[in-house]
Amino acid sequence: MHPDKVRQKYLDFFRKQQHAVLPSAPLVPENDPTTLFTGSGMQPMITYLLGEPHPKGSRIVDSQRCFRSQDIEEVGDNRHTTYFEMLGNWSLGDYFKKEQLPWVFTFLTKELELDPNKLFVTVFGGSKKLKISHDQESVGIWQELFFTANCSNGVEKHPEKNGMTKDTRIFFYDESKNWWSRAGLPDNMPVGEPGGPDSEVFYDFGSERNLHENSPFAKQPCHVNCDCGRFLEIGNSVFMQYQKQADGSFSNLPQMNVDFGGGLERLAAATTNNPDVFTTELFWPIIVTLEKLTGNNYNDDETARYAFRVIADHVRAAVMLASDNVLPANKEQGYFVRRLLRRAIRYAHDLGITQPFLSHLVPEVAKIYKQSYPQVQAQAEKIQTALSLEEQKFQKVLEKGLRHFSNLEKIDGESAFRLYETYGFPFELTQELADERGESLDVTAFDKARQAHAEKSRTASAGKFRGGLQDTSKIATRYHTATHLLHAALRKKFGDSVQQKGSNITGKRLRFDFSFDRALSDSEIVAVVNQINTWIEADLPVEKKVQKKSEALKSGALAFFGEQYPDEVSVYTIGASQGWISRELCGGPHVAHTAEIGRLQFMKQQAVAAGVRRIYLSVESP
Ligand code: ALA
Repeated sequence: MHPDKVRQKYLDFFRKQQHAVLPSAPLVPENDPTTLFTGSGMQPMITYLLGEPHPKGSRIVDSQRCFRSQDIEEVGDNRHTTYFEMLGNWSLGDYFKKEQLPWVFTFLTKELELDPNKLFVTVFGGSKKLKISHDQESVGIWQELFFTANCSNGVEKHPEKNGMTKDTRIFFYDESKNWWSRAGLPDNMPVGEPGGPDSEVFYDFGSERNLHENSPFAKQPCHVNCDCGRFLEIGNSVFMQYQKQADGSFSNLPQMNVDFGGGLERLAAATTNNPDVFTTELFWPIIVTLEKLTGNNYNDDETARYAFRVIADHVRAAVMLASDNVLPANKEQGYFVRRLLRRAIRYAHDLGITQPFLSHLVPEVAKIYKQSYPQVQAQAEKIQTALSLEEQKFQKVLEKGLRHFSNLEKIDGESAFRLYETYGFPFELTQELADERGESLDVTAFDKARQAHAEKSRTASAGKFRGGLQDTSKIATRYHTATHLLHAALRKKFGDSVQQKGSNITGKRLRFDFSFDRALSDSEIVAVVNQINTWIEADLPVEKKVQKKSEALKSGALAFFGEQYPDEVSVYTIGASQGWISRELCGGPHVAHTAEIGRLQFMKQQAVAAGVRRIYLSVESP
């Protein structure tokens, strides 16, 4: 089935179950400084999973574009990708297991027409430590569904030990497999983070796969999570009902949610009964172009196939990121685009491509998404220019790296690692080059150097996530309320023609775009910032009210997404007791009193587009 059709069928199916269909949020989250990229469908839903009412209601469906930078080195097998789309449906305190699991099953077997005999499922087996018992309700629902479809429905409680028999359909696993949160395992979750047990669906690509005698898996019991390549996870229903507490325990969230995610690439692969996602229409045109450019054949040449997958994944991801305005750069999101391109160029070089080739691939990516994301096609020229510039630069660096190599007197683990770090040389390339010079290379020393580096960066990023999440989201909440104050202060000073055009918050500052056709003078800036700080010092209350949209608008609340709001909306009012100063339709969250924000200071202003100005403010340093 064409992936466009898989996506459409999914959205239509859940629309019929009264879900509001949302467009994909951007790859770079708005107003969420806790993560660089949208890495799962639920990322933009966090506040609603925590209890804020969603303007579109309690049933949501979408296909979310995602990027997982941490998977970059995994790419090369038949299933891992950095960029992907995640089909997602959510119950925000609405339906739960007995609706969700049958819907997933019906979608897979009736809409995608997957053979139910090839579907296997997992459920949470319970945890004494978490004081959460095994998920018998899901087992019962799955057993009934498979029974009705004339399939076996046996349950295996210890799959790692026992493997599967011909009747096994449902597998129990502990929290290492059947628990989902943004931070992974329960132990890794910061206080306040939502998560819960989940139930995954796997597709069986055939028992003969990878189980020849040489396979490391041949002598181990096979089960859906054994990684032998026979099974591929195609969907995950997370029962997001818990929140991590300060003492490490879990309490119920104010509402019981469902968070479903299914990889579009993998679902499309299942419909073709071929586990290789790179053979789906989401990649194949890129692969065919690479075959033409190199003269290598994807199916016959294992080395070329690996490189083709890396190049196809990385270029597709770079194009999609660029279409969301993430261009190659030295830091933050842009760094990953750079890294993707460099890896792609390096692998292309291995295949003998030494001339610029991105201009052949970018149009292919745009074509793949012609129907679903026409904005890629519309920006193709701009994207190609930016990526080709990077390509030209790196092809030169690569050449320099090769020269650096030829000047090395001795090639050891350290120098191999430096080549890897500085010029992006894969170890294998350095090793080959060393071989040609009749030198043998110390793999252990290279691994040691690489591991030391990996550990350092892992520790740094784990530290950022763990320590950062709670603190940063608290700061983000303060900046969010500050954004409303800035909006109000600008309108007070310059009139109602000032309208919000966009905003973005990081842990360090807020950025606010508004309609205004000139630079603000210094004294105007001072006046606006003083006004905000006066409101902050007055410690005005911030109050939330859920009401009819028409009433909210009548009461003067500002709304900038017009038609998109449902009948019931949440409205935040600041300073209600003294004749309010700000009232906006908004999903929150906000501080309860303005003094929590702390005094703000001006950072800079810019022009963004004709008639749109941008202001940056930060909390005053003490
Ligand atoms: N949020 C869940 C996942 O990413 C559905 O697997």
